[in-house]
Amino acid sequence: MNGISQITRRLGVNIDHIATLREARKVSYPAPFDALSILKGCAVDQVTIHLREDRRHIQDHDLAAILKAGVLPVNLEMAVTEEMVRIAASQCPHTATFVPEKREEITTEGGLDCVGLFEKIKQATDVLKSRGIRVSLFVDPDLRQTVASKEAGADAIEFHTGSYCHVIEEFYASSGHYDYTRDKASFARVNTELEKIKTASKKAAALGLKVFAGHGLHTHNLKPVTEISEIEEYNIGHAIIARAVFVGLKQAVCEIQAVLKDQ
Ligand code: PXP
Repeated sequence: MNGISQITRRLGVNIDHIATLREARKVSYPAPFDALSILKGCAVDQVTIHLREDRRHIQDHDLAAILKAGVLPVNLEMAVTEEMVRIAASQCPHTATFVPEKREEITTEGGLDCVGLFEKIKQATDVLKSRGIRVSLFVDPDLRQTVASKEAGADAIEFHTGSYCHVIEEFYASSGHYDYTRDKASFARVNTELEKIKTASKKAAALGLKVFAGHGLHTHNLKPVTEISEIEEYNIGHAIIARAVFVGLKQAVCEIQAVLKDQ
């Protein structure tokens, strides 16, 4: 901690992987819904869920129950499709985050092509904003994508931190530890990725977009990203649910919050 002040950065916890565990057996447990009271008790700022087109984890009934409970603001991640826009427009989550979706991918690999899909994204954004839903676009930290996101009418932009995290994971795989600063080449690669996030964040903030970040973040790679002051919200899932297996959800969330609070 810097000893002067504590910075507040919002945390959205993505609970998709509670549903992944349930769907592995096609049973009724563990239920993502049951995480809500624990997250609320941790003073988490929002719950994030991704209703994928293939329904591989979160199901329509999860979305309905989580929204109906009203325990936390809901950030619904969704593909830019007619079906998803219809669902979001009728269910009205607090935030809709448009993400790219490929059926064969393991997770959301890379950001939305807001430049190439501009008209489609703009139309979908208009529909959801007219329903009072905050719209965020999940894009790579790239200046063209950032400008296009603003022009498409988004309220916020979430930068995909996957490439940054991937470089650090590669280093871990070869060294068995996370101190990449000890290796000149890895340090430089990490900084290159970080710089892209920093530059895009500054541009987004200058354009008046709210700036968020997510994907692949955990306690060993989050800190350098939190030094980018424009980023006000983080959406973190896989690492929290994975850690919860050993220490419980409350403790796993607290560990991330400690990094976000500069402790
Ligand atoms: N933000 C967005 C837009 C995502 O699509 C995801 C992954 O579903 C996340 C954040 C969370 O990523 P992770 O599960 O790697 O923390």
